Amino acid sequence: MSEHQGMHPFFAERVLGARPSATKEMTRLANQLQREGRSIVALSQGEPDFETPAHIRQAAKAAIDRHESRYTEVAGTLALREAVARKFERDNGLRFSPDQIQVGGGAKQILYNALQATLNVGDEVVLPVPAWVSYPEMVRLAGGTPVLLRCGAAAGFKLTPQQLDEAITPRTKWLMLNSPANPSGAVYSARELAALAEVLLRHPQVWVMADDVYEKIRYDDAPFATPAALAPEIAARTLTINGVSKAYAMTGWRIGFGAGPLALIQAMNLVQSQSTSHACSISQAAAIAALDGPMDFLPGFVTAFRRRRDRVVEGLNRIEGLRCDLPPGAFYAFPGCQGLLGRRDGAGRLLATDADLALYLLREAGVALVPGSAFELPGHLRLSYAASDESLDEALRRIAQACAQLR
Ligand SMILES: Cc1ncc(COP(=O)(O)O)c(C=O)c1O
Repeated sequence: MSEHQGMHPFFAERVLGARPSATKEMTRLANQLQREGRSIVALSQGEPDFETPAHIRQAAKAAIDRHESRYTEVAGTLALREAVARKFERDNGLRFSPDQIQVGGGAKQILYNALQATLNVGDEVVLPVPAWVSYPEMVRLAGGTPVLLRCGAAAGFKLTPQQLDEAITPRTKWLMLNSPANPSGAVYSARELAALAEVLLRHPQVWVMADDVYEKIRYDDAPFATPAALAPEIAARTLTINGVSKAYAMTGWRIGFGAGPLALIQAMNLVQSQSTSHACSISQAAAIAALDGPMDFLPGFVTAFRRRRDRVVEGLNRIEGLRCDLPPGAFYAFPGCQGLLGRRDGAGRLLATDADLALYLLREAGVALVPGSAFELPGHLRLSYAASDESLDEALRRIAQACAQLR
């Protein structure tokens, strides 16, 4: 990173080589403009705008009053890991004992722990892209090499068995899969996962990291599929990751969890024991209430997201130069913007890339979104539609107006 280069040589090469989170960076820029008095519609961060349900908040207050304010076990309290085991059995048909489960400070921490626990310098991690901004950077921070496989709109933003087969080498350690996906909203069916698993069965050195954090945010009736449920041979080398951030509107509580083979979880516990120790005790108590409690709020969340998705996708497709398919999951629209690249703004500045276009939309229209290049698929934009109907309508109006001004 250019702003880091002046710091060399005090800072570690692995940090100098890493990029800050582009979504957080866009949000920071938007906040800065807002402080300067600009009106900004921020669609750059991926978090539900709903309140955490009341029974979960209540459980946290009760935990405070019970003085649950001490260190917990590194892997998380036994009570929470038992609740996580119930969740996996109930929702996914997966059976784990509590010692096969790690709770951490968000799914992000679980991903990080797993990569730190397993990667040596030069180990390869196969990553279908577009992918969540943190995957490649976390791989690099752990000394690994991300192997990026482009999965464009024509492929539904999904990896094909042939792509996977061609990418695997003796150094491949992990395939990272995210369904429903950030940023594309793509969802893998059981059949598609089974076809990928067939390839993996021929390559026993490759493990699977299944990031299922958007499991509950899906818009069709197809049953949810996750790799570990496909076959025991795959389950024996899969880490299944989920959390409470997205489904329960609990991003700030920082609770995620992973379940998989005992030896992997033990190695991840070692990493966690020497870094963060464990997730917040009060948040852990709240997460038990989330996982064991009623889910009657969820249809309301999903219905609101679906309505906003339809509205946003329709609005984007009405803008000349943008093209957006209807994403079947998560809460992002990921339109292609190639039709607008190469044009010039009112001041004659060339918008050559999606990053130029995203900056133009932030500065000119006051709409914060993230360029596809941040997710390793240039020529796109990502908008989070986890925002109020009014702000989405306002964002669409502003984007349309700003795009119409390009020549
Ligand atoms: C694909 C994906 N995985 C993991 C996370 C992190 O979730 P958590 O809040 O549980 O750390 C996110 C958050 O944006 C995400 O998009």
